[in-house]
Amino acid sequence: VGEIEQRRRTSTDADFEVAWMLGERIPGWLTRDQAAELWTAARGTAPGETIVEIGSHQGRSTVILGAAAASAGSTVVAIDPFLEGEVYGGQRSREQFERHVAEAGLADVVTLEADYSAAVLTRWPGRVDLLYVDGKHDYWSCSKDLGWTARMPVGAVVFVHDAFSSVGVTASVVREYLRCRPRLRYRGRTGSLASFAVGLPTARERLALGREFPWFGRNLVIKALLRLRLRRVARLLGHDSPDDPY
Ligand SMILES: C[S@@+](CC[C@H](N)C(=O)[O-])C[C@H]1O[C@@H](n2cnc3c(N)ncnc32)[C@H](O)[C@@H]1O
Repeated sequence: VGEIEQRRRTSTDADFEVAWMLGERIPGWLTRDQAAELWTAARGTAPGETIVEIGSHQGRSTVILGAAAASAGSTVVAIDPFLEGEVYGGQRSREQFERHVAEAGLADVVTLEADYSAAVLTRWPGRVDLLYVDGKHDYWSCSKDLGWTARMPVGAVVFVHDAFSSVGVTASVVREYLRCRPRLRYRGRTGSLASFAVGLPTARERLALGREFPWFGRNLVIKALLRLRLRRVARLLGHDSPDDPY
């Protein structure tokens, strides 16, 4: 690696570390490796482009995308209706979200749409250049979230969190592949963060999606074990956490 390229890589790594310092203290479910994936893709957007995040919660993934967008000259639209309830926290989460984005100095990069993604899509004026789907994990909601890909150019990147972990999310991804002209090419995953590019998948890419099913089966077993309070057995499958695999 040449000296200039080495310097460029080092400064890029340092930028990600700063973004992760902001993100890791915010409660949420995004891992460091997944944050690095999001950050790299968002850093690759061009000035004036738009990143859409569906499901922001307290802003853990938002500040990662926002920090990269600030360097790239793009912007982030964060969509979340802030559902009330024990898991997502409703209005309290919204206040935390706004505080975290402001503290990260990203208030002019991130715009909040406090609504359901399907409602925002009906009034969305333009195109989307990068999409991160991490909203409600049931089949119907996630399928609607994937409807945003119709606003994206060929080659644009789509991330889906909790793929091959949540049944609803996985079913909506598989449904996309069962269409006669699927819109997403599978690129791989980091944990449950699946990455796609908008476009017609090749036969090989369709097969690659199918190869994730053993991992999906393992995750379903682990989730069942955790609900049966059999964490020690889950540990034998390599899962050492009280949380579902993600
Ligand atoms: C798993 S959390 C998101 C976590 C967040 N990305 C992070 O990094 O911490 C899911 C969020 O999706 C939101 N949500 C639920 N239904 C939604 C919908 N239809 N559109 C957008 N967001 C939705 C919930 O309010 C919740 O805050």
